[in-house]
Amino acid sequence: MHNLHLHTQTESIAFTKGRPLPFSSLPGPVDLPGIGSLLNVMWNGGLQNQHEIMFNYHQKFGGIFKMNLGFFKSVQIGDPCLLESFLRHECSYPKRMEIKPWKMYREYRKEACGLLTLEGEEWLKMRRVAQGKLMKIKEVGKMDAQINEVLKDFIPHVRRVCDKEGKIDDLYFELNKLSYEIICSVLYNERCGLLQEACTEEALLFIHSVKKMMNYLGPLIVTSPDLHKQFNTKSWKSHTEAWDNIFATVKKCIDKGLSSDCSQRNDLLNAIHNEQSLTKKQLSSLFTELQIGGVETTANSLLWLIFNISRHDDVQEKILKEIQSVLLSGKIPSAELLQKMPYLKSCIKESMRVTPTVPFTSRTLDEDTNLGGYLIPRGTIAMINFHAMMWNNDCFPDAQLYQPERWMKPRSTVNPFANTPFGIGRRMCIGRRLAELQLQLTLCWILQNFQLIATDTEPVKSIASGVMVPTRKLPVAFKKR
Ligand code: HEM
Repeated sequence: MHNLHLHTQTESIAFTKGRPLPFSSLPGPVDLPGIGSLLNVMWNGGLQNQHEIMFNYHQKFGGIFKMNLGFFKSVQIGDPCLLESFLRHECSYPKRMEIKPWKMYREYRKEACGLLTLEGEEWLKMRRVAQGKLMKIKEVGKMDAQINEVLKDFIPHVRRVCDKEGKIDDLYFELNKLSYEIICSVLYNERCGLLQEACTEEALLFIHSVKKMMNYLGPLIVTSPDLHKQFNTKSWKSHTEAWDNIFATVKKCIDKGLSSDCSQRNDLLNAIHNEQSLTKKQLSSLFTELQIGGVETTANSLLWLIFNISRHDDVQEKILKEIQSVLLSGKIPSAELLQKMPYLKSCIKESMRVTPTVPFTSRTLDEDTNLGGYLIPRGTIAMINFHAMMWNNDCFPDAQLYQPERWMKPRSTVNPFANTPFGIGRRMCIGRRLAELQLQLTLCWILQNFQLIATDTEPVKSIASGVMVPTRKLPVAFKKR
């Protein structure tokens, strides 16, 4: 266990009579010509272990330090007060670090970009269109019935895939199916049959293709994607083929969803299409990237939630009691009834803090910025380390323990910038409300039908592979109630 003590803003800021210090005077790990700290990172477990490495660097250097990974220079932010002051100067079109192979694919196939990959005014225009439907609690609340329909099928599916001891061979894959089925239901009012006994390869194509695309993304980024494309390497070909399948799957859903039979449906696709502010190409890139952003992240958060609850019987009992006290006489959970379940919500919030799905996000600075008393030059990539902040013992006493009660206090003293699992500012996750509703409803259904049992108590480590995945099968069993 680490005992992280990040410096508070006042401790870490180095002021020189109001004039910021130069970037070069920021502390940071060894910076070798051409490769920066890459050797250090490789020596300590590689990019898969970057969350732990950065966590330890924050412990050593404080809430802000500089780092050069060879292929980019960054300033690392791991202090909630610094993050707050950083956001105070947020520009109109915040920019994440470019994922070059994704951009290259879109140029190569003449596809448009969606919210994950767009920048500038075009990003804002698309964001506004989608935000009106996805960031309003009331609008998202109306999706509860569709989500419940999917969950109604998920419960018998879980029973089917459990072995005699209640263990599921690949729980993560099953949760990915659930998540995909839910997102298709909400976006297109379409069911894909992933929770049926005989599910087709075609239905699984999207999930398999995302996995394949992500597997080739790392190698393409670390080496030169341009060279891979020029020599048409296996990595470039496989990455392209995976994206071809992803776009083809989404286009099929869009064509069907907008056909005359379905155009009266009450789904997100028709709601956005009827506003007539996006071209068909933009629609397919928006929906492709909503699906990319929404399937594995939600499945992953659910996986860790199941794990955390399985290890805390007292918590599990307490949530079940709360659910039973609200869902009297066989009522089905709804967005409205969830408002009466503060403990269930705290359990989800705490799980996302202690076992976050996404450990960092990034912003490319569009102008020279004074941060923490240092002048950070324009173009530098600011890495915002949620993981280090969420595990900060100053913000969260016993930060590495799962304690949902910490969110139940009447007056919370937690700095809201310390717990941002969905990112922050104008570019924060657009699917946040939908993901929260999905997690809350799923937890209700699972706990009403199963007791979650921890099958061992050994630690489970995680590695950064796009999202934070466990290094071994989760030791969890589902016991029918
Ligand atoms: C962006 C996390 C679910 C779509 C993000 C970001 C994070 C995140 C950390 C980066 C935000 C930033 O840079 O400040 C999560 C987690 C989820 C989840 C933990 C599940 C528990 C979803 C869902 C959707 C979605 C369900 C789709 C409906 C997106 C999109 C972006 C994004 C499109 C880019 C937004 C933009 O740049 O304008 N998400 N997400 N996410 N997420 Fe999610």
